[in-house]
Amino acid sequence: MEKEGKRRLRVVLVPGPFQGHITPMLQLGSILHSNGFSITVVHAQYNSPEPSSHPEFSFLPLPDTSSAVLTGELIAFVLQLNTNCKARFQECLAEEMRQQGPDDGIACIIHDELMYFSEAAAKDLTLPSIVLRTNSAANFLARHALLQLKEEDHIPFPEFRSQDPVPELYPLRFKDLPILGNLDKYLQLLSKASNIGTSSAIIYNTIDCLENSSLGKIQQQYHQVPIFPIGPMHRIASASSSSLLKEDTGCMVWLDKQSYNSVIYVSLGSLAFMDVKELVEMGWGLANSQQPFLWVVRPGSIRGTEWIEILPKSLKENIRMRGYIVKWAPQKEVLAHSAVGGFLSHCGWNSTLESICEGIPMICKPCFGDQGVNARYVSHIWRIGLELESNLERSEIERAVRRLMVDEEGKEMRKRGKNLKEKVEICTRDGGSSNNSLNKLIKIIMSF
Ligand code: UDX
Repeated sequence: MEKEGKRRLRVVLVPGPFQGHITPMLQLGSILHSNGFSITVVHAQYNSPEPSSHPEFSFLPLPDTSSAVLTGELIAFVLQLNTNCKARFQECLAEEMRQQGPDDGIACIIHDELMYFSEAAAKDLTLPSIVLRTNSAANFLARHALLQLKEEDHIPFPEFRSQDPVPELYPLRFKDLPILGNLDKYLQLLSKASNIGTSSAIIYNTIDCLENSSLGKIQQQYHQVPIFPIGPMHRIASASSSSLLKEDTGCMVWLDKQSYNSVIYVSLGSLAFMDVKELVEMGWGLANSQQPFLWVVRPGSIRGTEWIEILPKSLKENIRMRGYIVKWAPQKEVLAHSAVGGFLSHCGWNSTLESICEGIPMICKPCFGDQGVNARYVSHIWRIGLELESNLERSEIERAVRRLMVDEEGKEMRKRGKNLKEKVEICTRDGGSSNNSLNKLIKIIMSF
């Protein structure tokens, strides 16, 4: 970025150490790089991004020698990461600042809200910082409500309240609140992640036309700093992959052989787990629906088995007739393929945005965290999908697939999905809300 003659500004990015957080941060990096900034990505070693996919960035690993990740305690891992990494991060940046030439100064640090140690380090180094929130704005409000309900002693809530509406958070019910893992540790993390400290702005990977009302409420809460909804970032960034797993592109050839809008794509994202019974129910539900399906089963995501070797032979034969299973798909290309007509998803925020951008209606099977909030918005606010409310059972899955892919109800959802897709596209064009927000964000970074 041209400033004071030939000066090119550097932005330091600190992504959260999970696929759903790394992807939007690297997309933001690509967007800023194409606007003239140099990019340094400081990252945890766990789930380290692949530098060769982004030769235009510099990468700097942090020493995250935490044992919690090995035991699957992801919240404890993130808390430890924040404790362990601040000093090292600060040393690295101080060293970079000593070495920096007059044409490569650090303009600011942009950090995932989970990596809140970055804000404290930035403050000590008198560098400006900006927070990136990779979830929806509605999810932030739900988290805020959760913290308040906890203070008033309403959390954990009794089972009989699970269907009750959360006051002032239509259409959310208590069961949709973003609860995760060990509640005390989780609330501790939420409270730290929500405190922006001395940060100068908040970036959201969302879009004004999807979340105008939630964004307005958040702006009221954080009236001292600007909020920039610049999503959907995957649409604005150049297309380089940030996948931590190898994408199986063979499914694209299979998709080419399927008819228009006929395939239901199934994926529960990068973190969710199932047990064997659920895997088998899902398999039979999909097979019995009589629709072609492309199913992602992540290796290691089925408790007690490595992959799909446990599926009964008769089911495997059924699947072979109209299904295709991969370990990891090139999801954005899959959703953009003309054969794909529906998405059975866990409703992670990236998957939800990617589906909306292709006008693909969804069957929502939220598993944890923000996914319940996203599912509720898909089914009740944007009305482009339906939610599987029961446990994974074959008859429910079969019925949901047919409702979405065959019935009139699904056709209406598809129509609304196409309209929403067009609205989102307008937001990313010149003069659209996301485009305007991005221009303002760039101006702020240049002014530091
Ligand atoms: C996690 C949480 O589960 C989610 O709720 C939160 O919003 C972000 O962090 P994850 O499970 O990774 O998310 O889901 P999601 O946010 O949807 O991100 C998954 C990413 O992996 C998407 O960008 C998707 O395109 C990609 N993906 C998924 C693939 O590239 N291939 C696949 O086979 C499956």
